[in-house]
Parts: sequence; C-alpha cells; structure tokens
Amino acid sequence: MGDRTLLNEPADKGDQMEIAPSSTPPKKVNPTSPDGMEAELWRLGNNLVTKFHVLLRISQIYDSKNVALNQFINEFLETINTLIKRNGVLSLKMIKDEFFLNDERLRYSVEGFTSFKYLSTQWKKRVIGEVIFRTLVEEEMLRHFIYAFFNLEEGREENADLLKKELESHQITSIEVTPLEIDESEEDYTLQKEDHREVGKKIFFETIGTIKDVITNIKGNQSADIRKLKRLAQKAIHLVIEDESILLGMTMIKNYDEYTFNHSVNVSIYSLAMGKRLGLSKKILTELGITALLHDIGKSKIPRDVLNKPAPLSSEEWEMMKKHPLMGVEIVLNLKQLGEINPRMVVGVFDHHLMSDLSGYPRLFLRNEVSLFGRIIQIADAYDAMTTPRIYKKIPYTPEQALAVMLREKTVHFDPLLLKILIGLVGIYPLGSLVLLNTHEIGIVYKSNYDPNFLDRPIVLLVDRDAKGDATKQLIDLTDTDEAGNYKWRVTKTLDPQKYHIDIAKYFL
Ligand SMILES: [Fe+2]
Ligand SMILES: [Fe+2]
Repeated sequence: MGDRTLLNEPADKGDQMEIAPSSTPPKKVNPTSPDGMEAELWRLGNNLVTKFHVLLRISQIYDSKNVALNQFINEFLETINTLIKRNGVLSLKMIKDEFFLNDERLRYSVEGFTSFKYLSTQWKKRVIGEVIFRTLVEEEMLRHFIYAFFNLEEGREENADLLKKELESHQITSIEVTPLEIDESEEDYTLQKEDHREVGKKIFFETIGTIKDVITNIKGNQSADIRKLKRLAQKAIHLVIEDESILLGMTMIKNYDEYTFNHSVNVSIYSLAMGKRLGLSKKILTELGITALLHDIGKSKIPRDVLNKPAPLSSEEWEMMKKHPLMGVEIVLNLKQLGEINPRMVVGVFDHHLMSDLSGYPRLFLRNEVSLFGRIIQIADAYDAMTTPRIYKKIPYTPEQALAVMLREKTVHFDPLLLKILIGLVGIYPLGSLVLLNTHEIGIVYKSNYDPNFLDRPIVLLVDRDAKGDATKQLIDLTDTDEAGNYKWRVTKTLDPQKYHIDIAKYFL
C-alpha cells in the first residue's frame, strides 16, 4: 500500500477502498485561501516575495548597471505592477516574521519557504518594517530601490529614513518605507514555542530538499551522499522528543507536485513519532528515520509516466511497480556511505509492502515475519498515501476515513499494536481534521492530546476571522472546563474540508 493500486487487481488492498471519500462532487479548488485572501492575490504575493528574494541575491553579485540583472528586474516589475494595478497601491509589511500584503496576511507556499525566510531575515537585519509602492514601478526606480535597500547598514534604527532620503536623491518619492516595529510584549513561552516551530519548518523543508538531491543523483546514476540525511534525521528526533506535534503538523502540507519528496519526509515523521512512543533508542530512531526517508528510493528507477499515470496500470506496469522495494535494496547497498547502513535498514526497505499476512510484495518463500522497521513504515506509508491527493485520486481520504479503513484491515495487513500507536499519535479526531464544535464554531485539529484518556479532546485551531477579515490564530484546548466543571467545547462531527474550501495545509505553515 502507499502505492497506487492496479484497479483490476483487488488482491492488493489499500487504496481501493469502498468508503467514498466524499459524497460531494469535486469542486473548484481554493477560490480563496483560508485567510479569505483571493487565490490569485495569494499567488501574486508569493511570486513577489520569491522575485524580491532572487533580486536581492543577484544584487550581491552584480552592480546595478549589469545587464545580467535585466531579466530579474523585468520579472519583478511584471509581478509588482500587476499587484499595483489591481489595488492602486501596494504595501508589503512585516510583523513578527510574517508578511502582509495590503494588510492581509500572506501565507507562503511550500516552494516559497526559503524566499520568505530569506526576505524576513534581510528586512529584520535592516530594521525595515513596511514598503509602500504608491505608483507603478519603473525599471530605474527598482534598480535604485534594490541597491539602496541592500546597502543599508545592518541594525541601524534610522534605516527607513536613510532609505527614503536615498530614493529622494534620485527623485523617487512614490516609495514609502517605515521601520520595523518591535513588539517586546511577547511572553517567553510563546517565543519558545515559535522557535520550535521555526526549527521544525527548517528541518522539514531542508529534508525535502536533501531527499530531492539524493533521488536526482540516483536517477542520474551518481552515488548519493546520505550523511546529510542522517544529520537531519537526528535533528528531527530531537524535536520529536521535545514536542512531536510540530513535525506531525508539517505532514499536513501535502504538496501535490512534489509527492515523492513530501511523502518520504512525512513517512519518516510518522515513523519517528511511532518509534519514539515505542521507546526506541536514539540510535535506532536515527536508523528508522533514514530507512523511512529511503523507503521508496527504488521508485527512482521507475519511469515517471508509470509513477504518474492517471489511469489504472497495465499488468506489466504493475509488475514493474512491485519491484521498487527490491530495487530500493539494490540502491541502498550501492550507497557511498554503506557504513551508515545496517541490515535492519536494508530489510525495512525490502519489506515495507509485505503486509502482516505476507500477501503484499515481494513474494516470499522463506521468511514469515515482517521486520519492525517494515511494519512501522508500512503503517506510516499507508496513512500518508491515503490522505494525500494523487493524480489518479484527486480527492484523498480525510484522516478519519483513512484510519477507519486501516482499522478494518488491521489483522491481515497491519500490526494492530502499531496501528494503535498511530491512532494515539493522530488522535480519534486525527490531526488536520476539520471539526464542528457544539458552539457551532469550526476548527482544525491542531494537536492531539497526549493523555490517552482525552484522545477525543484535542487542541483545536478555530477557523475564524477578526473584524478586519484576517484569520485569527486562536487555539483552544477541548479539555478546558468552565467554573461549574463542564467542558467548554466538544466535537460534534467532522466536516469535509473540500466542501468548505479550506486548505488545511496552510494552517500548519
Ligand atoms: Fe511509500
Ligand atoms: Fe513503497
């Protein structure tokens, strides 16, 4: 499981579930972002941040007159002027590491993470809080602006004024700049929490980038370096031990276009969190993390059109697909750092599709037990695959439906104890479920309750907007009681996010 299934081969259980994921027909995806920001505006805003990032980087290499800059200047101009034309004015503002586009919070896309991070660091260093463009931007203006911005001395509180003066010396008066507002009232506690979240994001996106490199190298028949994967797995373990909910939240970022990389990282996160609850040592957890990251590495040898085929596979294609665990073993054994690999890891790659009753693949004649790594990865793999949209299955199962399916198949296909651990991790209302509360508020399950007595009382993020229309980020704990000792909230039912046009992933970024 975890792979697409051949529709005419029902023997391989898993993806071809009988539960309809939703009785509603597919709808237009995301006419608005969860904050109410229009999708087109969100796209343009993300584009603007990326282009700003690229331009700043390029300006470190070339001087302002260099022709190599032209293309980047033009791309930036096109994006920014489209935005200015739409709204008459464009304000890009940073408050506490978040960017706001004309006062609407701009959540970043998965691909945009590096650019947002870079830009917020550069703004912070230069103590710049807001830039307002009041007229359409011309090429010369932009060149002056970028270089004046870049040349600001780090840490000077007068920078906004200095930048304004520098622009005025070139007769540019339509760009306004204000200093960064520093909010000192934040409590240490939230800062610490936010720090963890930032660390989590960094590990998550770095691991995606690294696994991408590994796969690209293997595809090009070059040997891959897995030492970096090991270091990242170790960092992830630290964080999982500290607070498992942060990385588990990241698994909600289901990137449709980069499925393989996201999937590998997600399977690794679930596996590590399960391994931690099993009490595995850090050394074994590291091995498990690497194995999970590499579990589908054999797929790098399968042609793209077979992997992404929107229709059912032919039997030859399916046979090829079924070879990926074995091909994975071959790749792992050819890695440059074979010293980092031990038999436990090789077997984990080999048997992650075997299933408890050995009905999966590869077919075996002798062994009669699936390894622990194999069993953990299989469960993590199935859960992630079922809850992620794929080209041949655009509407995925909700977390709740996926667990229901797995529970039904537990004795034949999954290790029942490990499945219990997964349910404990993601809760009865799994992480990322959209829920309706008895107060008629809608929320997203943000974190499951660690206490097994309160699996039905998770921490919920309310989907709500303030008076200005911005999304509020209010977390409520369903174990909270009022003065009389009654629970303030309870979940009355789960809802289908598609129906409400809610992109769950964005709430976990
Ligand atoms: Fe997989
Ligand atoms: Fe697989």
